[in-house]
Amino acid sequence: MPTALITGATAGIGAAFADRLAADGFSLVLVARDGKRLAEVAERLRLRHGAASEVLAADLVTEEGLEAVERRLREGVDLLVNNAGFGHPGHFLDVPAEQEVRMLRLHCEAVLRLTLAALPGMRERDRGAVINVASVAAFFTRGSYSASKAWVVSFSESVAAEMAGTRVRVMALCPGFVRTEFHERASMDTSGIPGFLWLSAENVVREAMRDLARGVRVSIPDLRYKALVRVGRLLPLTLIGQVSRRIGR
Ligand SMILES: NC(=O)c1ccc[n+]([C@@H]2O[C@H](COP(=O)([O-])OP(=O)(O)OC[C@H]3O[C@@H](n4cnc5c(N)ncnc54)[C@H](OP(=O)(O)O)[C@@H]3O)[C@@H](O)[C@H]2O)c1
Repeated sequence: MPTALITGATAGIGAAFADRLAADGFSLVLVARDGKRLAEVAERLRLRHGAASEVLAADLVTEEGLEAVERRLREGVDLLVNNAGFGHPGHFLDVPAEQEVRMLRLHCEAVLRLTLAALPGMRERDRGAVINVASVAAFFTRGSYSASKAWVVSFSESVAAEMAGTRVRVMALCPGFVRTEFHERASMDTSGIPGFLWLSAENVVREAMRDLARGVRVSIPDLRYKALVRVGRLLPLTLIGQVSRRIGR
């Protein structure tokens, strides 16, 4: 039975990945900070899909948490989903430096180190995959959140290129606005986000898994966001900055 390790598996996109992969017959390693919630998700997956889950409570912003997950990955997994992440409510100058560094540790250092822990075993077996959850924000300008997600996209594309010629796949997943706990946790005002821009976590995961099977390296779920990213690439950065500043604060 193949094994998938998912970070941030207790809510939102990570929980949707857990549900989908359990239905597909994966056994799971579920990672997040809240151990009680992890156990509840594992029990739900067992009841719904008969799936076996290990729970690994770890804070990926800490050295101890990162090392625990690295150790588990070195034992071997078939799929790693680097999904855990969070947002800031404010503008760059309003966010304490310590919060910015936590974000970079979770979005960049954890993604780097967990990918590095998982890939050698996958390359040796010549099979496996890594999905790094970035964001369409990677293509726009929304402070260090955008910058960290742009790093995830660039990093994933680079590693995917290095895996060319093997059966190991690496993909960046770039969702738009998804209804999860993300915005509430970040105390963001989402009232300015038009309804048609919201996606469901289930649809994002469905499209991600389809793109992974096709060998896509940068997956942008939904036609609306594919179009938005295309148009965004044609516009001057100053205009993109003005629009980005107004949405979802
Ligand atoms: N929602 C959106 O609109 C959207 C759009 C584009 C991209 N994304 C990206 O999608 C990913 C998932 O976001 P989501 O919307 O599903 O968020 P969410 O509903 O808030 O879930 C976040 C998950 O990450 C875990 N987590 C947070 N900090 C962690 C840490 N330090 N160590 C370990 N686990 C941690 C949380 O569990 P614990 O609190 O128990 O640790 C939770 O399971 C993120 O990378 C986010 O940037 C989201």
